[in-house]
Amino acid sequence: MAADPRLFAELLDDGHTGPVYRRITQAIATAVTTGRLVAGDRLPTHRELARELGIAVPTVSRGYREAEQQGLISSTVGRGTFVSGVSGIPHLRDTPETGHDASVRQIDMAVNAPARGMMHDELLRRAITAVAATAAPDALLGYESDIGTYEQRLAACRWLAHSGLDTKPGQVAICHGSQHALLVALAATLRPGETLLTEALTYPGAKSAARLLGLSIQAVAMDAHGLIPEALEKACASASAPRVLYCMPTAHNPTAITLTPERRQAIVNIARRHNLFIIEDDVFGLLAEDTHASPLAMLAPERTLFLTSLSKTLSPGLRCGFLAGPPQMTDRIGALIRATIFNPSPLATAVAMRWLADGTADRLLDWQRDEMARRRTAAEHLLLPNPAVAGVRTAALHAWVELHQPWSASEVATLAGGLGISISPTRNFAATDQAIPQGVRLCLGNAVDVGTLTTTLRTLADGLERGRPTWASSTRV
Ligand SMILES: Cc1ncc(COP(=O)(O)O)c(C=O)c1O
Repeated sequence: MAADPRLFAELLDDGHTGPVYRRITQAIATAVTTGRLVAGDRLPTHRELARELGIAVPTVSRGYREAEQQGLISSTVGRGTFVSGVSGIPHLRDTPETGHDASVRQIDMAVNAPARGMMHDELLRRAITAVAATAAPDALLGYESDIGTYEQRLAACRWLAHSGLDTKPGQVAICHGSQHALLVALAATLRPGETLLTEALTYPGAKSAARLLGLSIQAVAMDAHGLIPEALEKACASASAPRVLYCMPTAHNPTAITLTPERRQAIVNIARRHNLFIIEDDVFGLLAEDTHASPLAMLAPERTLFLTSLSKTLSPGLRCGFLAGPPQMTDRIGALIRATIFNPSPLATAVAMRWLADGTADRLLDWQRDEMARRRTAAEHLLLPNPAVAGVRTAALHAWVELHQPWSASEVATLAGGLGISISPTRNFAATDQAIPQGVRLCLGNAVDVGTLTTTLRTLADGLERGRPTWASSTRV
């Protein structure tokens, strides 16, 4: 089908910013994402679009060229310019695991990844070139120290100082992302058959790691301010005699709650009273707004393993995680890293270290903070007025949307799936089979830009509004 040139005029006004040629590229991406353009659709000629938008022909040509480079469209001399298949578009994936028809395109709001700008690609190219030019091949091609070299751990300490931690290289290990750091932390502190305490809603990767290690999970109740200290105290005194708590005090996944300083202190006091060890997951910490609360690792360094990574701030592809704790645990952690991966990939670690050393990491962190602040505002603005929505809390890369009855989280996730948007319902995060609030988590980082995110959220909000009578009439309250 031939695309209507007016579609572009509409999309260009839809929150896209920057030079006009780039807005054309973004408008094409948005139209493909939302299904307004599909594979095989014919785009207007350069001249037609320039006339419609009142801009110069070379500007349109440049916009089309960029879209072609991104795999969104392709041109054939004499035939015209056509929309490509979806395979070239990174945030559109077939998701057979969600149970939808694999041929249906899904907009990914289920994977909690950071936003990516054009400069990420260029900065990666530069870092790889610099690493190739400066690193000794032996250091990249051989086995490395399990916990990372002294210099790498020193760089990690400097990065951890952004979170307020004062660590020394002797107490820090480099891991293969924080999922790996979490597995190592659990194996270092618990034996198969033992009980791990977690918040009632928890990171699904923690559930998988616990399962892998033969641990059982005991949920600690939460309220609107996060983990409830009194519930933790009760859990510590229970028959299972738990020895370890895994928690996310800042920008909790999925609820986006950040614990107040008072709750943090209360948790640490309880941990000391009951000799409880803490695994603190701070993977989103540097992206949280206005956090003046200290990490638990600062309040109780003698009993906390602190883990984070560069995945949410810079890029998950670096697979660079940090695990910091009491220095006497470092040998055990080194042995567990050897047992699981031998050592983190020297090549990926070298790129990460380059970014940390030359200031790129700080630049990308600032960019991510600004970009996500815009995205969170868009999510709040679009979802809060919706009749299905009881509340929206956002932090870091995600939004937690609480639902009014009669909506249930799984119904909303199914409805979203039908609209081509994958999101995660509460049950994915439930630590155990206990009663849980009805909510869905939306990941805001995958859309190519704020305009695309806005269009997607609008589609979802409209769908919820339209879906209401059907849901309401078939409800169990
Ligand atoms: C809370 C939490 N911890 C850890 C991870 C693992 O991240 P990575 O292994 O990429 O560092 C994630 C990923 O989504 C997460 O949400």
